[in-house]
Amino acid sequence: MTHTDHAHIGLEKKDAESIVAILHKYLASEIVLNLKIRNYHWNIEGIVFNDLHAFFEKLYISGSEYVDEVAERIRMLWFHTHASMKKYLELTIIEEEEKISKAAHSMVETLLKDNETIIRGLRKDITEIEEYGDQGTADFLTALIQKHEKDAWMIRSLAREKK
Ligand SMILES: [Fe+2]
Repeated sequence: MTHTDHAHIGLEKKDAESIVAILHKYLASEIVLNLKIRNYHWNIEGIVFNDLHAFFEKLYISGSEYVDEVAERIRMLWFHTHASMKKYLELTIIEEEEKISKAAHSMVETLLKDNETIIRGLRKDITEIEEYGDQGTADFLTALIQKHEKDAWMIRSLAREKK
């Protein structure tokens, strides 16, 4: 065994495996969510086309960053990342959407729901990761929660109609 077989960073191997399983859940979810946002960007129709087409583009560009950051966090713990659609669909907490076109308001509502699902999931999982003593990943996922909270705020503002 060479010194590069593991990352010698003070985490038990079993704990590191549990942490990476959590990270893989979010890698899968970010990828499924990203494709959903692209679907909306491509297929949005109606009077709101201009605004939402651009807004969804902004969201999937920052979402691509989240995908990359989660994958690289897995590598920092010295594990390999899954890279198969089949695996992602198995692990995601976000539902894939096969529908091509729907009303703008339900696109926005779906994205709000999905962002809030990720936020609630992360909140629980960060607590577990803190128990393993992995401050680096806990901090990383805390930053990810903040990004999704910001996205959720913007989407929620769009979804709200004052009467
Ligand atoms: Fe585009």
